[in-house]
Amino acid sequence: MSGGKPVSALTEAEAAAELARLAQDMAEADAAYYQNDAPLLTDAAYDALRLRNAEIETQFPHLKREDSPSVRVGAEAGDGFAKARHSAPMLSLENAFADADVADFAARIRRFLALGDDAELAITAEPKIDGLSLSLTYEKGTLVRAATRGDGQTGEDVTANARTLKDIPERLSGKGWPASIEVRGEVYMAKADFAALNAREREAGRKTFANPRNAAAGSLRQLDVEITKSRPLRFFAYAWGAASGPIAETQSGAVAKLAAWGFQVNPLMVRTQTVEGALDYYRSIEAKRASLDYDIDGVVCKVDRLDWQQRLGFVSRAPRWAIAHKFPAEKATTTLLGIDIQVGRTGSLTPVARLEPVTVGGVVVSNATLHNEDEIARLGVKPGDTVEIQRAGDVIPQVLRVVAPGTGPAWVMPEVCPACGSAAVREVDEAGESDVRRRCTGGLICPAQAVERLKHFVSRKALDIDGLGARQIELFFDKGVLRAPQDIFRLRTNIETAGLPPLEDWDGFGAASAKKLFASIDARRKVPFARFLNGLGIRNVGQTTSSQFARNFLRWQSFWDAVRRAGEGGPGGEGYQDLTGIDGIGGAAANALIQFDAEPHNREMLEALLAEVEVEDEVPAATDSPVAGKTVVFTGTLERMTRDEAKARATALGAKVAGSVSAKTDILVAGPGAGSKLAKAEGLGVRTMTEAEWLDLIGEA
Ligand code: IVH
Repeated sequence: MSGGKPVSALTEAEAAAELARLAQDMAEADAAYYQNDAPLLTDAAYDALRLRNAEIETQFPHLKREDSPSVRVGAEAGDGFAKARHSAPMLSLENAFADADVADFAARIRRFLALGDDAELAITAEPKIDGLSLSLTYEKGTLVRAATRGDGQTGEDVTANARTLKDIPERLSGKGWPASIEVRGEVYMAKADFAALNAREREAGRKTFANPRNAAAGSLRQLDVEITKSRPLRFFAYAWGAASGPIAETQSGAVAKLAAWGFQVNPLMVRTQTVEGALDYYRSIEAKRASLDYDIDGVVCKVDRLDWQQRLGFVSRAPRWAIAHKFPAEKATTTLLGIDIQVGRTGSLTPVARLEPVTVGGVVVSNATLHNEDEIARLGVKPGDTVEIQRAGDVIPQVLRVVAPGTGPAWVMPEVCPACGSAAVREVDEAGESDVRRRCTGGLICPAQAVERLKHFVSRKALDIDGLGARQIELFFDKGVLRAPQDIFRLRTNIETAGLPPLEDWDGFGAASAKKLFASIDARRKVPFARFLNGLGIRNVGQTTSSQFARNFLRWQSFWDAVRRAGEGGPGGEGYQDLTGIDGIGGAAANALIQFDAEPHNREMLEALLAEVEVEDEVPAATDSPVAGKTVVFTGTLERMTRDEAKARATALGAKVAGSVSAKTDILVAGPGAGSKLAKAEGLGVRTMTEAEWLDLIGEA
């Protein structure tokens, strides 16, 4: 694992691998935070990842990825709402953690604007509200659209919901507003309102919200407007996007206009001429933080003059003219009573510290995440130790360090899943580095994962069973009639055996819909290879990989035989080569398949499932083309098409595209710059041809 190394010690390959991992981890965290309103990481952990990503990119600028977290903001808009494209992107803010970062910010601005040391640089400072940003479009003074930030370019259209907030005027008051303007600000929930809402939710037996931010996001993003209406949401306006005319000359002037037009603006905003002034303000707000009616996570400083903001512009995801000076996390010391293992919905095992309850920043904390076993080893922590913990605004607090060790024995991470008893393993990637997370290999048979796995199994891209969606899966699971995928096909019998009334008599079903459901289940007793494999939800074997396996093996049985042989022969063996020889298929997918098959529970499940359904063999894409059934490898530079086009075309003509040359290769298409693959093909007597000859062969010359 290169994650712990100083950036200067990373090799290029390690840096590239880590950037890829960071992009993926942060995208997952963003999706959980923005789309599902259920954060995976503490703000501090998230910021640490962002910082690490930035450091690696500075050292290896050429490795910066297109999907880098440094250029991407938030997460794509979710399903459920119509998409709303912002006329001016909704950006993020650069973070400052230390006083010196704020001083650097001001110095950078002075340099950029070529201001002398004595020149005035007025800065506004205001609390950074911990809510979710919203963009409100007004045409001729009337609200026409409200959109969440989404990925910064496109958000979700939540107009109907936004109209229910009393802080959002339907019509602008006063005068002087541009004919068209996007007003931006933060939707939030006051602390007292949040506590009352959670009390109500608890009483009604519903899930409570982790913090006011999640409650605000969850309440605004409701498909049912009536629910949003019943939630106490508020809005502070602090910025604007596209506008058809000028608003003011300064930030403070513009905010005064927003107030005059009927918006709530933060009364704590100030204007200062110096960095010291901004830092004093930060400290005064930090001292007030607990007594404020709403959650804040720092102070935002902005250049006051708008013509200067204009000149300063943006760097990738954030403006040069503003900075978020974040508050440090709150800390406390307590005893670690034990370490429990939580199994996530996708199978990752997370060690969680059970703590002697302690108050941190006004909240009683009795659990803290320990992330993974490497983190536990790094901290050297074990039950009985006195530990320092930190709570950063929201989500699960974390253990920072051991303050005083106890006398207990060292703690060992279990190698079996506590929920189902299957092996729990750490994946090893191509470079031989093992994943920090340990994952349960039980998949569909693990009760901790079952519901999510079953939802995936019936989802549109897998078995696609009409009328059997997330809600029905949860219902059948709760009733105990659906625990494993094969139960879907035995639903009628399972209901009967459980002594429950026939489905026709269940609430919300009725004769017609019950009949329809059983019919659509029966229709899936024959299922295409790729859908079936994708449905199994094996790690690293998603929709694309499943289709690739299907196209290359055609028959389910031949494919599964190869998996078996791969398990028996190991990475050097022939089965393994058959799996990984396919273009785009790496060791990660092969290893996950082997692990899946090595788990007896999975074998039993698969056997039971195959007793109910028949996996249809893949029909070759084309059988009458001159390259149908041939294994083709592309190498060197292609001049008339991209590599992806070439592969897609070959596959459509029934060829199998492989990534490496072996005795099984039929044709090597070699462009200029072809190297070792060409030499190997010639050595093996494989037929080689130029791009032009290939196009000629497939009739596209
Ligand atoms: S100004 C170009 N002011 O913080 C960005 N943002 O971390 C202009 N936020 O996306 C944003 N309070 O959702 C600004 N007083 C405030 C804020 C604030 C909270 C949020 C906003 C932004 C995020 C960046």
